[in-house]
Amino acid sequence: MPERVSKIAIVGAGAVGATIAYASMIRGVAKQIALYDISRDKVNAEVLDLNHGLQFVPMATLEGSDDIGVCAGADVVVITAGAKQKPGQTRMELAGANVELCRTLVPKLLTVAPNALLLVVTNPVDVLTYVVQKLSGLPSKRVFGSGTVLDSSRFRFLLARHLNVAVQNVHAFIAGEHGDSELPLWSSATVGGVPLLQWTAPGHAKLTEQDRTHIFDNVRNAAYQIIRGKGATNYAIGLATAQILEAVLYDEQRVLSVSSRLDGYLGISDVCMSVPSIVNRSGVETTLEIPMNESERESLRRSADTIRNAIRTLGF
Ligand code: 2OP
Repeated sequence: MPERVSKIAIVGAGAVGATIAYASMIRGVAKQIALYDISRDKVNAEVLDLNHGLQFVPMATLEGSDDIGVCAGADVVVITAGAKQKPGQTRMELAGANVELCRTLVPKLLTVAPNALLLVVTNPVDVLTYVVQKLSGLPSKRVFGSGTVLDSSRFRFLLARHLNVAVQNVHAFIAGEHGDSELPLWSSATVGGVPLLQWTAPGHAKLTEQDRTHIFDNVRNAAYQIIRGKGATNYAIGLATAQILEAVLYDEQRVLSVSSRLDGYLGISDVCMSVPSIVNRSGVETTLEIPMNESERESLRRSADTIRNAIRTLGF
């Protein structure tokens, strides 16, 4: 029997959905990439443009449609559709509109792609991951969100630039909400095996308390800054999502700060948010009990409360 080919389906052909398709195509994440959008002209145009680049990337096929049937047989469905932030607007302010979209979308997705993992990217991602998991009734490990994978990458970039070391040698996570209540996990961060808080290297900057405040402020406000300048963020979320998809489809057991439903994590339950987790072919295999100091634990609990309150307000 021929080997099954891997397929991802992306719901929403806006800036984020199209860039996830582009990044996935360049990285060779899946053999089949499907794009679904309610606007036929938009989805056809994006797919045409992407198809014209197929010669330059690993072998794959790309199709698009305004019929959700295009998602059939997907291993992973990525949800990017929905209202997006206007300049100055918070992610949480999108909750009402995007929950309604999920109510119509999720039953249809379950019909056409019943075996898929669902990866939520639409904001507010933690609230929507919870809502999609509830609406789908799927096991919680099969429904997860891009969470703070992007914020952690912003964090690592800023730390790497400040310390003048390669970003690949910085290991540091942002946890909690992908949004205003998120928190940096300073106490577990390392650079080339050196605990970040003890970092010192001849010829390389130190990290003062003031630097830490400045760097985290920049992480938390990054999306606001980008949206002010160009109306949306797309490249880094495209690459972050492609990496999550790779972790799933290549069964990588990769540690990523995806958003998933917590059940007794440091006393936190019944909420979706990001903590470092092992991602593999089954989805979120397990969360990692990364060491945290009391102030980090307290911030994580506060972030959980923020998300849970939003979920309750929406009637879930
Ligand atoms: C981002 O952080 C807007 O959530 C999006 O780039």
